[in-house]
Amino acid sequence: MPTAVNDLPAILGGRPLVTLDQERATRWPELTREDEEAVLQIIRDGNISTHPVIHELEADYAKFTGMPYALAHNSGTAALLAAFFALDLEPGDEILVPSATFWASVLPMLWHGIIPIFCESEPDRLGLDPMDVEKKITSRTRAIVVVHLWGLPSKMTELYSIAEKHDLKIIEDASHAHGALWRDKACGSLGDITVFSLQGDKLAPAGEGGIFLARDYEYYERAVCFGDITRIIELKTPAQRFAATSFGIKTRIAPMSAALARVQLRHLPERNRRRNNNLVFLSKHLEALGFHTYLPPEHIHRVYFEYIIRYDHARIPISLPMLVSALEAEGCMIARPRYPLVHQQPFFTEGHALDIARLPPDFAPPKYHAKDLPQTTAANETLIKLPSFPNADRELLEQYVAAFQRVIRHAEAIRTKHLEQKPAE
Ligand SMILES: Cc1ncc(COP(=O)(O)O)c(C=O)c1O
Repeated sequence: MPTAVNDLPAILGGRPLVTLDQERATRWPELTREDEEAVLQIIRDGNISTHPVIHELEADYAKFTGMPYALAHNSGTAALLAAFFALDLEPGDEILVPSATFWASVLPMLWHGIIPIFCESEPDRLGLDPMDVEKKITSRTRAIVVVHLWGLPSKMTELYSIAEKHDLKIIEDASHAHGALWRDKACGSLGDITVFSLQGDKLAPAGEGGIFLARDYEYYERAVCFGDITRIIELKTPAQRFAATSFGIKTRIAPMSAALARVQLRHLPERNRRRNNNLVFLSKHLEALGFHTYLPPEHIHRVYFEYIIRYDHARIPISLPMLVSALEAEGCMIARPRYPLVHQQPFFTEGHALDIARLPPDFAPPKYHAKDLPQTTAANETLIKLPSFPNADRELLEQYVAAFQRVIRHAEAIRTKHLEQKPAE
């Protein structure tokens, strides 16, 4: 930790406090000989399209989540496209969705004529706000998309109760939450249909890939018919008649990705443990400085797809841009979270979304406005992102803590200096 003599913040001319190498500490995904061997084995076997490793991956995910039916896909987006198809809804039916998510939790439904209705996210765990969800239910609402954002399980008790009361299905997007638990149940087992993305940044990546999981056979069968002809052939039901065509999409995962995904899933617990140890350590120190770090309540085991914290101006005496600049000057890797709110994007505000949905002529489409969802919009402005430190040593984390402490300790001087440097108006 710095002494008082050389305690000048780097932004005011002092020496940066974060000096250790951050490349290894933040490198992800973690790929080892085991991954290489698994991929080579597929090449040696020679079946690079329909290799049994795909079935094995599905069995792994069924076991991991406890969901009875699993179907591997070539992306999380494709798995979500299949999930919305599986619900067998009518054009113009509505699904309640968060805006604070990656676009793929929402947009695929439009290709089935389903209308996304955006809801606020709540401040505690950044998932759907049950109060707003209930307000947005209409006679056309059929389902809710639940996203465990950044690895924080959503408020399932309240969302289940709403779903039950209004007879709504739950599509769980667990793409950020491999290994998270809600009341000892795996995220990935909490929806009628669940989807994981296995894209390269995720906690158990495959390069590109996705997993569709269903509680009921009917959903699985529709997902199979949608986009996987080799699997339609295996069906023992009249649905086998679609084997020559599918429903016009191809969603099958590549075996080399499936092989990677199996190895990555095997190592998930130990790698999640490392991230959690690092980020809980950091969080406890940052909480003491006035940041909100989304440490979960007792009944939740969260994971850290990304490490997002909240800045509260009432507790931290400099503005967010100044804070970010001061921490950057100290050598911290710090950024704003990378998802813009979905409902504010031109795709929605300019009307392209409803073009894709091709609604019946008499249908009165909803209007999407950037000013909707003031609670989520305001909250989004206060979030900052730090590395998720899959591989950091304690010394590097201590340097981060020291950098935050120094910037907060000198907040007033940093603010004054900034005001002095502002050009006169
Ligand atoms: C919450 C969420 N859902 C869905 C997806 C889509 O997954 P993919 O990139 O595998 O298509 C992502 C991907 O980043 C995501 O973050």
